Amino acid sequence: MSIAAVDFHRQLVATRTPGHGMNGALFGREDIFENDVHIFFNQHWILVGVTADIPEPGDVSTIDIGKSSILLVRDDDEQIQAFRNVCRHRGARLKPAGKSTVGMLVCPYHQWTYDLDGSLKHAAHMGKDFNANCRSLIPVHTQVVGAHIFVCLGEHPPEDIAHLEQTMNPRFAPYNMTHSKIAHESEIIENGNWKLVIENNRECYHCAGTHPELTASFLPEDFGFCADGLSEESLKALDEYEQRNAAAKKSWEDEGFICDTVEHLDVDAVTQFRTQRLVIAGNGESQTLDTRVACTKLFGDLSRRDLGDVHLWTHNSWTHVMSDHAVIAYIIPLEPGKTLVRTKWLVNADAVEGVDYHVDKLVEVWNATNQQDANLVAITHSGTQDPAYSPGPFSAFTESYVDQFSRWYAARLAAHGV
Ligand code: FES
Ligand SMILES: [Fe+2]
Repeated sequence: MSIAAVDFHRQLVATRTPGHGMNGALFGREDIFENDVHIFFNQHWILVGVTADIPEPGDVSTIDIGKSSILLVRDDDEQIQAFRNVCRHRGARLKPAGKSTVGMLVCPYHQWTYDLDGSLKHAAHMGKDFNANCRSLIPVHTQVVGAHIFVCLGEHPPEDIAHLEQTMNPRFAPYNMTHSKIAHESEIIENGNWKLVIENNRECYHCAGTHPELTASFLPEDFGFCADGLSEESLKALDEYEQRNAAAKKSWEDEGFICDTVEHLDVDAVTQFRTQRLVIAGNGESQTLDTRVACTKLFGDLSRRDLGDVHLWTHNSWTHVMSDHAVIAYIIPLEPGKTLVRTKWLVNADAVEGVDYHVDKLVEVWNATNQQDANLVAITHSGTQDPAYSPGPFSAFTESYVDQFSRWYAARLAAHGV
């Protein structure tokens, strides 16, 4: 990116009115998009998959991110490895995007052959002076948390991934999420900038008007509210909400399930995340239309169905873990106005489709929610590119995390010289 373009990017971010949305050019310009990908997807920890993407030794999942491509590999010791998808001979891609199973990683060009630990095992016609030890695949920094596979493509991965790991591992431990399988997955290409996808995910101001399926399992008070002028009836409902949350928290903590909300989001955070154990409305079990579990074989050795929703946000993902299933979604930016959203529904690896769960019921909430959100992102991206667009004010009650995301975005750019 040229110095002039960096200066322009800085200026656009700096001129944001606090508590207001971003300038439309930050969503639409190609040079800003490339800078975003370089900083937020190549220098930060990003979620790129789940352990169940590669359940067996030899399984490979190939993920393209901008000009980069990575291979997630389950090695012979059942450990997860990640490598750059670039042959150490003349650079050919070893695998196209998607999943495959291999004995060794063989380059399709001249058949250089790599072991699952990345070491070069065979390279024909290279002569006796050739040193294969210097030609291993380039490793990628990897961190597995629960079922989540995070990678960092940068040379200096942010160290505060340890905070995410230390916070989430004990929360996920009772669910034994590495013993899970993918019951269903979806890919949507949303017609909007990646920041608009995340902004939309950081607020539920739009939920009541858009998400009839999702709101079945959400308590309306979780969306955020403005107490000014609330009726006596609403204030009573708020009181009941607080009592219900306190009672649920006590009953979970009495059984050792961690409930405390942790936020590592603001300008001093590098690897931003937030977690909370949300109470589920209605019958209190899971994010389904009837708020009952969709899978009767619960995660791990769990016997209790009403464990709420262990929620996790990062700057490219959102996760909901219930007693019976998890929904893990992450984004990869494709173009200034196009973002790939991948969603995976996980259940206990021992659950049997048609017996313990039915895919239709499992996906009914988030399939609908994702489509509804994709539409909101598309109409917003389009509107922000209209010359008439001028960023409006956020609700301090329901959109504080959108404002927070904008502050973090600016701080991370500044840390990278923008
Ligand atoms: S480029 Fe891979 S073997 Fe030649
Ligand atoms: Fe939404």
